[in-house]
Amino acid sequence: MLIGILSVRNHRYHPNRRLIEAAEEQGHRVSLIHPRDCFFEVTAGRPQLGIRGVDARPDVLLPRIGATINDYALSLVRHFELSGIPVVNDFQSVLLARNKFLGLQSLARKGIPVPDSHLIGNFQLFKEAVRKIGGYPVVAKTLSSRQGTGVVLVESQATAEFIIHNLLDKSQGLLIQEYVPSHGRRDIRAFVLGNRVIGAMELRPKPTDFRSNIHLTGGGRPVTLGQGLAELAISSTRTLGLEISGTDIIVDGSGTAKVVEVNYSPGFRGLEASTGLDIASQIVQYVTKNYGSASCI
Ligand SMILES: Nc1ncnc2c1ncn2[C@@H]1O[C@H](COP(=O)(O)OP(=O)(O)O)[C@@H](O)[C@H]1O
Ligand SMILES: [Mg+2]
Repeated sequence: MLIGILSVRNHRYHPNRRLIEAAEEQGHRVSLIHPRDCFFEVTAGRPQLGIRGVDARPDVLLPRIGATINDYALSLVRHFELSGIPVVNDFQSVLLARNKFLGLQSLARKGIPVPDSHLIGNFQLFKEAVRKIGGYPVVAKTLSSRQGTGVVLVESQATAEFIIHNLLDKSQGLLIQEYVPSHGRRDIRAFVLGNRVIGAMELRPKPTDFRSNIHLTGGGRPVTLGQGLAELAISSTRTLGLEISGTDIIVDGSGTAKVVEVNYSPGFRGLEASTGLDIASQIVQYVTKNYGSASCI
C-alpha cells in the first residue's frame, strides 16, 4: 500500500522518519508530499490532482501539518478527499481541530467538560470575560498556536492591555480561559487511534511555568489511563471527527477533568521516548487495516 504523508518537513523529521520506517517494516511504501508539489485543479468539471515527483496516487493520505496548517494546505486536504483518496484525519475534522475555539465549542456542545472559555475580539470583551471568570489570573491563547507558544497567564490589567495590544489578531479573536492552578493539577496527553488510547503520559510544568508541553518540560511519565479519562479522550476525538489525536486533558486538584485541546497532527517523539511504545507502527497498522483493502501492493 502507498501511504501519502502531507508534510512541509523532510524525511528526517521525527514523525515522518518513524512512519516511513514503520511502513517499510510492514511491507508498505510512503511518499512524502509537500504542498508545493501538488497541482490541484478543477478541470472538465472535476477535481484533478497531480503530485510532482510521485508517479502513483497514494492509497491513503495522512495530513501531517500541525497547527500551522494554512488555508492553502487545508484546501489541498479537501482536494485529496474529493479526488477519492481517503484522508486520515479528514478535512472536516482538521478544520475544527485546528482552531482551539471551534474545537472547544464542539466538545462543549456534546457535554464534554472543558475549561470556561471566552472568545474575545476587543479589550472591552476581554474585561467582561475576566469578570465572568471571577477575576485574574486568566489564561489567554491564540487560536492556532502550539507547543505552548501562544498560551500565556494574564495576572493583571496592565499585562492584559499589553497582551491584547500585541497578541490579539482581530480576524481570529483571542481565547480567554479560566486558569486551573498548577498546584495539584495533573496534565495528561492521550494519544488516540480510532476508538483506543494507544499511549498516554503525564506532564508536569516546570516550577516557574504553568504550561506542561513536552517541548518545554523535556519529558513525561508514562501512565495508564483509567476508564473515565480514556473515554474522555476517545469521545473528544470522535466528537471532532478525528481518528488520530493527541488529546490534552487537565485534572484539577479536586479531581475534575477538563479537555483543553485535541491536536489533529500530534507528534509522538516524546511519547515514544517516555513510554517505549511504538506509536508509528500502530498508526501504520491502523491505516492499512482500515483503508488498505482495495489497494494492497
Ligand atoms: N486553562 C488552563 N489552565 C491552566 N493551565 C492550562 C490551561 N490551558 C492550558 N494550560 C497549560 O498550557 C499548556 C498548553 O495549552 P494548550 O491549550 O494545550 O495549547 P498548545 O497548543 O500550545 O499545547 C497545557 O498543556 C497546560 O499545561
Ligand atoms: Mg497542547
